Amino acid sequence: MQSLTRRDFQQQALGSLLTWSLLDTLFSRNAFGDEVKLIASKWLAELNAMSLDLKGKKLEQVQWMKQVEQLLAKVDLAEMLKFIDFDALTKDLKFQDRGELSLRPKMPKIEGHPTLVYGNQVFALNKDRSVVPHGHDNMATAFLILKGNFHGRHFDRLEDDKTHMIIRPTIDGTFGPGTYSTVTDVKDNVHWFQATTDGSFIFNIHVMSVKPGATGRVYIDPDGEKLSGGRIKAKKINHAEANKLYG
Ligand SMILES: [Fe+2]
Repeated sequence: MQSLTRRDFQQQALGSLLTWSLLDTLFSRNAFGDEVKLIASKWLAELNAMSLDLKGKKLEQVQWMKQVEQLLAKVDLAEMLKFIDFDALTKDLKFQDRGELSLRPKMPKIEGHPTLVYGNQVFALNKDRSVVPHGHDNMATAFLILKGNFHGRHFDRLEDDKTHMIIRPTIDGTFGPGTYSTVTDVKDNVHWFQATTDGSFIFNIHVMSVKPGATGRVYIDPDGEKLSGGRIKAKKINHAEANKLYG
């Protein structure tokens, strides 16, 4: 019994040695890097096609959300981190005292790869810091958690006047690595992500000006007057106020 266990152990150890030596070979030949580039570039091209369709009104906003989420569900995080050269991007970071630090990953140039219609960035936050509560005008975005954990909240944006936004909670949960959510003008338009661990990172894509015209964030204070049916009357505030309250 004991010898069997020992033999099993040896076989396992040999197995992992073989794996490591194979990986080593692949890495030194950069075969793995090329493979990663191929997978990720296909992924980004698909995302690009969807976003072009969204802007061209070939794709409804909720359809874009559904398709992007299906795509994000398939992403291999390890590959993604390699593709955006996460280690280099996040080396010697100085996290913000309030709110998120925005990093711009350099996407590798790949032959035949389309010019991206969407922007991408990586948000870096330490524990308790937030991507502060905000809605979006004429914008579609997605978050994919790369590292760490977050308390993530979304709200539907039901009505607007000059000073307030009427919102209703839709998503409220824990988001860990590999989880994602999406935003459009018609659904889950307001989001707020608070890091619950140090060294937490979000990959963000954003399609600006879904329809021709102005686009941008609208900051709010979701701690407003409670209305019927779970609705909240949230005051519109500026970025400095939002950062002071929630950053
Ligand atoms: Fe946002």
